[in-house]
Amino acid sequence: MKVIRSPKEFQHRMRLLRRRGSSIGFVPTMGALHEGHLRLVRRACAENDTVVVSIFVNPTQFGPGEDYKKYPRRMRDDLKKLRREKVDYVFEPTASAMVPKKSSHPVRWETSREFHRLAGVLCGKYRPGHFRGVAAIVAKLFYLAQPHRVYFGAKDYQQTAIVRRLISDLDLDIAFRLVPTVREGDGLAMSSRNAYLSPAERARALSLSRVLFVLRREIRAGRRGIAVLRQDAISTLRRRVDRLQYLEIVDAETLRPVSRRGRKCVALAACYVGQTRLIDNVIIPG
Ligand code: PAJ
Repeated sequence: MKVIRSPKEFQHRMRLLRRRGSSIGFVPTMGALHEGHLRLVRRACAENDTVVVSIFVNPTQFGPGEDYKKYPRRMRDDLKKLRREKVDYVFEPTASAMVPKKSSHPVRWETSREFHRLAGVLCGKYRPGHFRGVAAIVAKLFYLAQPHRVYFGAKDYQQTAIVRRLISDLDLDIAFRLVPTVREGDGLAMSSRNAYLSPAERARALSLSRVLFVLRREIRAGRRGIAVLRQDAISTLRRRVDRLQYLEIVDAETLRPVSRRGRKCVALAACYVGQTRLIDNVIIPG
């Protein structure tokens, strides 16, 4: 496994591989890798000749007062895990190599892609600028890696909708792969941020997935309307977590709220347990 830090060198290597006819599978991450990330890596290994993982805690997607500084960084551990998975390349750039100025947080890009509705709803309402930062870095990583296939987790569902639009708006020749959310045995969605939870908070955090599972079951059963089910889920969750930011049931592609069952939809929620912000979602087939 080769670790590359320079963006230019990375781009050069990827270009050579592509010329030699090797298919490239790419998994962008911010490190502190867990089973969720590794599931994406394994899928990439199964489908490509060369597998590339990037590890970069992207300052441009963190808002002021968010956890950029304390975000877990475990490079040695991460490299060990990726070596075990037989990953070919790890791209691990420094912030100053990736963002335009050597300025520290908050960082601004001089050019960026503007997302309209998709980036302003759900998490976008509570994290202004977040998806602009995600899209900017993901576009840059795509230009550098020139991948054939990219792998993203359903855990960050809104992010997947935005990356898909980025690919289709720019006609990028990249196949997008959505990998289902990997959960702990009790249902809690795996996340690098779960490390912030105390044991008592961890227990309360479980309500998030539990409420979403019940909601999915009820929507599929179809006995009661979506609006009523949503209100029930909101009141239950409000009692158990510290601050519910949103719980919405939206169309899987447009992310517009749905009021009746029809096309594939997604129920998503974000809340705080203690100081930790958690998100989760369930996909409900059409
Ligand atoms: P990060 O949070 O490290 O996640 C990297 C990838 O792993 C994302 O596609 C995410 O959805 C996926 N992932 C995380 N937890 C998962 C789980 N429990 N099950 C399945 N997949 C999971 O998402 C980012 O980094 C960044 O925004 C990034 C795309 C790298 C841009 O900076």
